[in-house]
Amino acid sequence: MEGKLKDGFVADLKSRCSFTQIASKYLELTKKGRTYWARCPFHYEKTPSFSIDEFEGFYHCFGCGESGDIITFIKKMEGLSFMEAVEFLAKSVGMEVQYDSEADMATIAKQNQQKKQVLKALYDAKEFYKAQIYEKTAIKAQQYLKDRKINKSSLENFEIGYSPNFQLILNKLKALGYDNDTLLQAGIISESKGKLFDAVAERLVFPIYNTYGEVIGFSGRILDNELDVAKYKNTRQTIVFDKSKAIFGLKQVMDAKRAQHFNTLILAEGQIDIIMLHQFGFQNAVATQGTALTEQHARILKKVCDNVLVCYDGDTAGHKATFRALDILQGVGLQVKIINLPAGQDPDEFLKTNGSEAFQKLIENAEEVMDYKLRTLAEQSKMTSNESRSQFLKKAIDLLKTLPTLAEADVYVNSIAKYANVANNVVRESLNSAMSTLKKVKEPKRELSQIAQNFSDAYQKADKIILASIIHKKPYILDNVNLSFVNTNYQRLYALLLSKKDKGQEFRISDLYDIFNLEEDKDIAELVNYKFSASEELDKQEYLNSLDVNRMRGLEIEIKDLETLYKNAVDLSKKTELLTKIGNLSKELTNLKTSFVK
Ligand code: GTP
Ligand code: MN
Repeated sequence: MEGKLKDGFVADLKSRCSFTQIASKYLELTKKGRTYWARCPFHYEKTPSFSIDEFEGFYHCFGCGESGDIITFIKKMEGLSFMEAVEFLAKSVGMEVQYDSEADMATIAKQNQQKKQVLKALYDAKEFYKAQIYEKTAIKAQQYLKDRKINKSSLENFEIGYSPNFQLILNKLKALGYDNDTLLQAGIISESKGKLFDAVAERLVFPIYNTYGEVIGFSGRILDNELDVAKYKNTRQTIVFDKSKAIFGLKQVMDAKRAQHFNTLILAEGQIDIIMLHQFGFQNAVATQGTALTEQHARILKKVCDNVLVCYDGDTAGHKATFRALDILQGVGLQVKIINLPAGQDPDEFLKTNGSEAFQKLIENAEEVMDYKLRTLAEQSKMTSNESRSQFLKKAIDLLKTLPTLAEADVYVNSIAKYANVANNVVRESLNSAMSTLKKVKEPKRELSQIAQNFSDAYQKADKIILASIIHKKPYILDNVNLSFVNTNYQRLYALLLSKKDKGQEFRISDLYDIFNLEEDKDIAELVNYKFSASEELDKQEYLNSLDVNRMRGLEIEIKDLETLYKNAVDLSKKTELLTKIGNLSKELTNLKTSFVK
């Protein structure tokens, strides 16, 4: 929803949300001291490095560096926009979202009304298509269902329908009182050269649902493969239909899950595949809506189950899609395995020829991710020459490098050696050296010759230490010091800190997320993630040194400004006054510099 939020509403909302209480719906939290810990939902890990500080109102993962406030958390977990996350949170604590002005309130109310109308129209359209499949005009569609062996219970479960022609739905829905605008907004009808027509005309129609079980769009399949038109046609993106979030079969999975608990999903590619999987008893099957898997899809899946079996086509394009999907799925913390179908078959064909027991066997033999990746790589590389062998080895080692420890990587040494037909030691040696260069690259390099660079580095480092110490409320922070910053984000942050202090309010790290976008404002994210040493005494010394460094730069800038004024001044007494000031500041600067060198 658009519209500007009322000043202070976000702060008010955040203060009423218990971060840990809300997070505990998604994560298993353990309390240690003031901090709560969990396994990070944003990257795959075995031991918890994701922390929540309830008082400061923010989370931070020491593994992947993600951080944010409760709004960022909900945005990511629920795949929502900022405004949607605000609405979601407000609803969950029973607050009414407050907008800036009456006009905004009215706009929002109107948009909500429109959205309701659109959803209602989509529901009625679904009912219409569903009824059409039993009509005489649908003989071809009925035959098609028979040919593809889609039975009556699948027909009902997936609410499959039919659109007999280009006009009928328009007349029906208009008779129900909908105007053209609403029908266009819903994507049910399309417009071309001033003519309005059914977007999925003469097609078998599959309703697409959101996670609340509301119909948000349709996918239409042609009945004649010969025709020179797209096999599938989805209704377009609308205010309710976003393809990067839509998951086919999810509604049916949720319905099934109410009757019988399961913690694994099957991710396949096509609508008919999903329908057949459910029909053959695999009621945990889903697919993306004719698009490549996105992180948003993966997050939605993660909310439903912890395990995913990927069952994509076995051709080259399929392997590519599988590699991508595996990374995305693991990236949100899902446990993943691969179901391998015989080449050239999809689940629909496989089930029809081999039955459910055979598919059940495929599930039991599902392959581990790394095994799958290495095997696929080996199959794609011919291994006919030393060159192709060493290329395979390089790619294989690159894959192993993504594993967190050498010990975990070592498990695969044997199979890599076998694929490449080389001795285990050859693989082990390149693995060892690859893992050690990896560490070397990670260590920051210092170019000592670049004195100028070092100076500005020193200033930046000092700024970082000072601001990190302030926002993390270190006990040794000095009040009333004169600080100055060059970096605009640091200036904004410092202004925020000062204004909080002026108003007698306590600063909390969660306040940062109201002003900054920590994914873009890396300099601010660095402060949140700042790693202090183990010794407070050492940190204190660094902080005090940093104050001097900051003051030094402040003085240099001040002196430069005064020198410009001096050059432009005409009045002699003014000139003398400026000169005295410059002299005093220069003295202070020299003192600081000499004390620093010692
Ligand atoms: P059937 O022929 O009905 O069994 O489809 P399939 O699932 O075997 O087809 P395929 O593997 O070619 O496609 C997989 C999925 O991609 C489909 O289920 C659709 O969601 C999508 N898709 C395929 N063809 C098209 C197309 O022409 N347009 C769009 N938008 N999506 C398509
Ligand atoms: Mn198919």
